[in-house]
This record gives sequence, C-alpha cells and structure tokens, in this order.
Amino acid sequence: MNPLADPGISSVRIRACHGLKGDFRLPGDKSISHRAAMIASIGIGASRVYNYSTARDCQNTIECLTMLGVPFGRDDDGSFTVEGVGTDGFRQANACLDAGNSGSTLRMISGILAGLPYCTQIQGDESLARRPMRRIIDPLEAMGARIKARDENFPPLRIFGGNLHGIEYALPVASAQVKTCVLLAGLFAAGRTTVIERTPTRNHTELMLRECGVELITEKTPEQMRISLTGGQRLRPLREYTVAGDVSSAAFFLVAALITDLSDMALKHIGINTSRTAVIDVLRQMGGQVLTGNQRVVHGEQVADLGATSSRLEGEIELSGPIIANLIDEIPILSIAATQLHGTFTVRDAHELRVKESDRIRSIVDNLSRMGVDVEEYEDGFRIEGPQKLHGARVDSYGDHRIAMAFTVAGLIAEGETEIVGADAAAVSLPEFFDILSESGATVGRH
Ligand code: S3P
Repeated sequence: MNPLADPGISSVRIRACHGLKGDFRLPGDKSISHRAAMIASIGIGASRVYNYSTARDCQNTIECLTMLGVPFGRDDDGSFTVEGVGTDGFRQANACLDAGNSGSTLRMISGILAGLPYCTQIQGDESLARRPMRRIIDPLEAMGARIKARDENFPPLRIFGGNLHGIEYALPVASAQVKTCVLLAGLFAAGRTTVIERTPTRNHTELMLRECGVELITEKTPEQMRISLTGGQRLRPLREYTVAGDVSSAAFFLVAALITDLSDMALKHIGINTSRTAVIDVLRQMGGQVLTGNQRVVHGEQVADLGATSSRLEGEIELSGPIIANLIDEIPILSIAATQLHGTFTVRDAHELRVKESDRIRSIVDNLSRMGVDVEEYEDGFRIEGPQKLHGARVDSYGDHRIAMAFTVAGLIAEGETEIVGADAAAVSLPEFFDILSESGATVGRH
C-alpha cells in the first residue's frame, strides 16, 4: 500500500536494507508527457497518449490546457485522449491557470499563451513563485507578447498574447524549457523562429514536432545548434503515442540497486534519449553495473530495458561544463551514490541547481551533513570524498520531489532510521515511488 495514499501523511521512515529485487515498468517520462499534452492540443484531430506520466506536474499541464478549452478525456489505463484544437482553437481561460509546482508547465505553456489573442494569467505554488521567468519573458516579448510578472521576473505572469512574429534567439541559459517555450510560440508566429543553443539540451520537443509533421530544420556546427520552424503550420495529431518510462525516475532505483548489497533491479521500457542519459554514463564510469538491453526506437525516441546490480563504486568523477544540462535532474541522486564512491565526486558549473524546486545544492549539502557526511559546498556545486558512512537522521525534502526520493535512497544505506519530512513531495514526479521501493523489498514506514 502506498504509505502516502493518505494525504495527511507527509513523512516516511526508512531503514537500511539489502537484496532489492524486481522487474518494474515506470510511468511515462515527465518531460515527454508535458510535451505530448501540449503538442497534441495544438495538433488538429484526435490523439490517444498511453503511459502518460502520473506526476502531479503533468496533471497540472492537462488541467491548464483544459481551462483553455482543449477537450481531454482520461482512461482507467492511465492513457488520455484529446481532440487537438489547432493554433486557433484555444479559448480564453475564465480563471488564472495554476501550474502548481511545475516549472515545465509554466514555462512551456507560456509559449502557447503568448500566441493567443487574450490576456491569460498563470501562477504556481510557493516554490514556483520563487523561480526565474525572465528567461521566457525576454524572448516572448521580443516576439510581440506583453508580459507582466511579479518583480519583472517571478510568477504569477499576466501574458497579453497574439500577433507574434518570428525571431532568432540565442538561449542565454541552457534550458530545454525555454527552447520549447520559444518553439511553441513560433508555431503561432508569422515567419520563421530560430532558437540557437550552445549547450545541447533535451530534444523531445523537436522529435515530437516532427512526429506531428512540422517541418523543423536543425543545423549543427561544433559551436552551436540552430533549430528553426515557420509559424502557421498545421500539426497532425499524435494519434496513438506511447510515452517511454522516465529515465530520471529510473535513476533512483538504479542507484538504490547499485549501493545496496545483493540487489538486482530491472526497469522496462525506459527512454534513453542520449540528451538524458549522462546519468547512466556517469554511473558506469563509477563502476556501476548498469545494463541496457532490448534497445529500440519508438516515435523517434530511443527506448530500452535497464538493469542494475550491486556494485563497488570507484573513480575520480568531475562533472562540469556541458554535461551538467544533460544530468541536471539526476545530481541529487548522484550525490547519494557519491557517498559510496571510493574516490572523489565533484560537481561544478551547476548554478541552475540553486533555482530548481528547491535550492538543490543547499538541500543536498544540508541533508548529507545531517546524515554525518562531510561535503564541501561551492556556489555552483559541491564535492564529496568517499566512501563515507551515513547515519540515520531526520532530513527534509524541502518540498522538492527529487530531494525526497534521493534521501529515501540514502536511508537504505544509513545506520539506524532515516526520517524524510515532507516525503509526499515525491508525488510531484513519481507518486508510485514508495510503492515500488516497498515492492522491491525495502521497508518504508509511514508516519
Ligand atoms: C525540463 C528541462 C530541465 C529539467 C526539468 C525538465 C524539460 O529544466 O530540469 O526537470 O522538460 O524541458 P531547464 O529547462 O530549466 O533546464
């Protein structure tokens, strides 16, 4: 039973364990799911999306699109159906849209909102209200939208859209959310929109737009990638689309299997788009036995079955530069693997972690310190010399799903009991997290 099924329960207790076993399928990738809901809405005609993410964030995306008049239907098997309305079929929302905790929802859907000839308001929860939006406001205003934001940077946003024109925009931060926002706005704009990225970021939007028949031009040089599309194109619906399992969620189970004794876990049908899999490369570089099998391409996305078995971790790992964008969401769980590394683990150039769902550098350093780990904090990262013993402690999720899950995994190797306060945050990306962990053999106590 899900220890967090009762909304009154907000913390879990976990003890050291070994022998985690099992063969699991994970809900659909969160990044791909957001895009599927948005792009299927812009397409014209019926789509059915299977294995849509169960993440609370992705439910928020559907709710926001529903408020814009897009007819969604939900099925018991976790799929949704939608009748896409095309770029001119959205209607004015009669209330403020709510993205909840989801930066992806707010930043990406703003590209659509900028294309609508209305004023739309969108807000988020307390955490999202602290996250920077200048990065989408600048390009959308350059395309002709007008946007009012709290302190000119933070949600809620009031977006006065319509009459957009294409622009050429070099991303000042490596962000797939911003790239997607501008490309979606480009579909509503007159003329050509080009996004230039110097650091590669996840390319799910580009792959999915092509699935819908969008003529998207990518030009790659050693220094940059230019991605262009022309506005006014008619998008085909996604029709029947199955979302691959979430590799960012898989990472928690891979690390759990690697760092506990006698463990062996398999995860089926996981997305392994190379713009997302640096985490697997790094775990292998550490000596982790992570296997990939049954590799195939589904809807333009690489998919495979993954497996991980208990491993001795060893090596000198320094993560900095362009790789950071590829594994930004996996740094919390990598920090837990790092405590078991016979060697040094350093993260630099990861300022972006400070403006995620929590200040993730602070959250990692603070919680590891509470568990007795010696960790050096930098403005843009941290350094851990391993291996170190972890002691059970009371740690805090800081309302951040990835911190909640990472420190639950830390509890699996700590001496004594670990309590994760605010563990219910895990539902933001993987409501099934504690169920799967229990099924694999861990004892997860509710509190
Ligand atoms: C995401 C991009 C990344 C990532 C986030 C999901 C996406 O954010 O951290 O969890 O789906 O495009 P940034 O674009 O802000 O780097």
